[in-house]
Amino acid sequence: MQTTFVMVKPDGVQRGLVGEIINRFEQKGLRLVGLKQLLPSHELASRHYAVHSERPFYEGLLKFITSGPVVAMAWRGVDAIAVARNIIGPTDGREASPGTIRGDYAMDIGHNIIHGSDAEETAEFELSLWFPDGLVEWTRSAEDWIYE
Ligand code: RTP
Ligand code: MG
Repeated sequence: MQTTFVMVKPDGVQRGLVGEIINRFEQKGLRLVGLKQLLPSHELASRHYAVHSERPFYEGLLKFITSGPVVAMAWRGVDAIAVARNIIGPTDGREASPGTIRGDYAMDIGHNIIHGSDAEETAEFELSLWFPDGLVEWTRSAEDWIYE
C-alpha cells in the first residue's frame, strides 16, 4: 500500500471540478484518507514547490497556487502514486490523453487542474507538509472486492 498526496489546484476548484475529481479516484478503488479545503499560504506553497525554485515559472506558479482555495487529499492503495499520476495525466493539458483529468479538462501547462506526488519520498514529504496532524485510518469494506 502507498499513500499519495493529490491537490485540486485553484483553477479546478473555481471550475467546479472537485466532485468530479474525487469521484474518479474513489471509483477507481483508492481509499480517501485525508481531505481538506484551504487557502495555501505563500510559505506552504513555496515549501511544496521548493524543488522548482530555480525554474523560470516558479514565481508565477506560487502566485497561481495561492490565488484561491485548493482541495488537499490523501489517497491510499496498491501503487497509489503511479495509479494517481495515470488518472491525472501528463503536465501539459493539451498533450494529455482524453480519459485523464488533465486530458479532459485542461488546456494549459500551468493551469492544469490538479497535482499528484511523483515518488515515494515526495509523497511522504508532501503528506507531512499538508496533513501535519496525520491521516484517517480506516479500511474500506469494498477493498475485499477491489483487490483479489
Ligand atoms: P504537479 O507537480 O503539479 O503534479 O505537476 P507535474 O508533476 O506534472 O509537473 P511539474 O514538472 O512537477 O511542475 C509543477 C507544476 O508547475 C507548473 N508548470 N508550469 N509554465 C511552465 O512551463 C510550467 N511547467 C510546469 C504546472 O502547474 C505543473 O503542474
Ligand atoms: Mg510535479
